[in-house]
Amino acid sequence: MPSSASFASTNEGKQDFAGIYNRPDARTYFQTLKRVDYAIPEAAKPIFKGLLGDLRARRNGGGDGGLKVLDLGCSYGVNAAMLKYDFTMEDLYGYYDRGMERPFDEAVQQDRHYFGRQDEDQELNVIGLDEADRAVDYGIATGLLDDGVAANLETSPLGNGDAEKIKGCDLVTSTGCVGYVTDRTFRQLVSRLNDRPRPWFANFVLRMFRYEAIAEVLADAGYVTRKLEGPLFAQRRFANIEERTAASEAIQQIGLDPETELMNDRYYAEFFLSQPADEADSFPLERLASWAHEAKGVEGPAGQQHP
Ligand SMILES: C[S@@+](CC[C@H](N)C(=O)[O-])C[C@H]1O[C@@H](n2cnc3c(N)ncnc32)[C@H](O)[C@@H]1O
Repeated sequence: MPSSASFASTNEGKQDFAGIYNRPDARTYFQTLKRVDYAIPEAAKPIFKGLLGDLRARRNGGGDGGLKVLDLGCSYGVNAAMLKYDFTMEDLYGYYDRGMERPFDEAVQQDRHYFGRQDEDQELNVIGLDEADRAVDYGIATGLLDDGVAANLETSPLGNGDAEKIKGCDLVTSTGCVGYVTDRTFRQLVSRLNDRPRPWFANFVLRMFRYEAIAEVLADAGYVTRKLEGPLFAQRRFANIEERTAASEAIQQIGLDPETELMNDRYYAEFFLSQPADEADSFPLERLASWAHEAKGVEGPAGQQHP
């Protein structure tokens, strides 16, 4: 079954955050998600950083200007802020908690100035893709994103101009996005990202969503997908009892035990890495496990030292 069919019904049990995804300013997004301890970009950060370090070594630092990341479902540039400026989610929650939502020009002027004063990884370019055009505009205008694509690849083809922007990327990342996007989006991306060396795909996926259809699309293009067995990465607290019940049922429906979710009252994600077959051979998964040890909000084997 394509993932689009099963994801739609699973999504029905989740709180609808659509109202905060496409604002002129990132404040409402952060202020709302802080209340549910949204934390997956923080949990993902050591893994993304570790992968970038590995890719840097393999690809001699990357092309001109360093490595290029395509962040799928980039929103306002959250993962870009974590990776380019080394922010934590706590830093970002603190920064965006300074008042009401501002008009776009005012938000950009203030936030561009703020990010411009931070130490930036000059060897990293982050291109964002999100259907939320205003969020992408904010990300580009503030400098968090080096470029962006506002598109919904579930419903529309990727334009040639946008395909040019994502060309040559080394790593495709996502947090909190699979479930909104399905194998349809990945089919389009992988067909356009065929320059050598090809990118790796690093996706954090809520346990209630099946990843098989996406892995199959990538396998057809010569990729090997492996799941990091053991660690579960905290995404956010359930917003209400309905979410908790629906998530528990959805997780059980696919044959998994929702004990961790129910015990901690949170959604948890798993990590999937897809690499071209030859590169997967030379990449032991233990490397991922050691980076997961550094992550915050991890349950299971890799998280035992960081409850
Ligand atoms: C939970 S947010 C995650 C944002 C960010 N990655 C983070 O972790 O903070 C989900 C994002 O997926 C985006 N999204 C939803 N449907 C999409 C689609 N069909 N194509 C691209 N992005 C989509 C939303 O606009 C939103 O920015």
